[in-house]
Amino acid sequence: MRLGVLGSGKGSNFVAIADAISSGRVAAEVALVVSDVADAGILAHARDRAIPWIHLPPGKFRTKLDDEAEAALIAALVEARVDLVVLAGYMRILKGELLRRFEGRVVNIHPSLLPSFPGLAAWKQALDYGVKVTGCTVHLVDQGIDTGPILAQRAVEVLDGDTASSLHERIQKAERELYPAVVASLARGEIHARGRVTGGFAG
Ligand code: GRF
Repeated sequence: MRLGVLGSGKGSNFVAIADAISSGRVAAEVALVVSDVADAGILAHARDRAIPWIHLPPGKFRTKLDDEAEAALIAALVEARVDLVVLAGYMRILKGELLRRFEGRVVNIHPSLLPSFPGLAAWKQALDYGVKVTGCTVHLVDQGIDTGPILAQRAVEVLDGDTASSLHERIQKAERELYPAVVASLARGEIHARGRVTGGFAG
């Protein structure tokens, strides 16, 4: 399975996946790493590992790609013969043609137990709300924000003395275990999303 990994930040999830591939735990290959941020850590990690990478400027919008940038991204992923698009801290909303082109083949990791706390700084939202358990979720990406079908979750306890950063750190540790495991299962064709209950129901 050929992976296209997209990220905007430090790239710890990418490193976890790349390490799992190197040690034979994931039967996949990172075909391409793409970032919208020129100096993102994820690109430096790709460079260090001699994995093909590109910086693709996002265009004129702040939170999404413009049409030209999206077309360039699709072209790069197709050219690299990517089977699965792995979002690893990619801070651009993907809604359009890319999702149609890679339907059911785009996954994301989110730092909460969805559907609780979608959106930004989910660990802080969980801490501020006062939940006792949070975690991380790997899900298929659909048109919404952090709404796609859930593939796997890992729970993380919120401890009494937690700060936003201590909680975030433990969630990220869980992510680095969960994401490679899910990619491994996807590569083996083992995981399938279950349907979600989206309508109201009695009881
Ligand atoms: C992760 O915490 C993930 O949940 C969120 O973005 C973060 C990326 O971190 N979607 P990194 O760049 O993989 O270190």
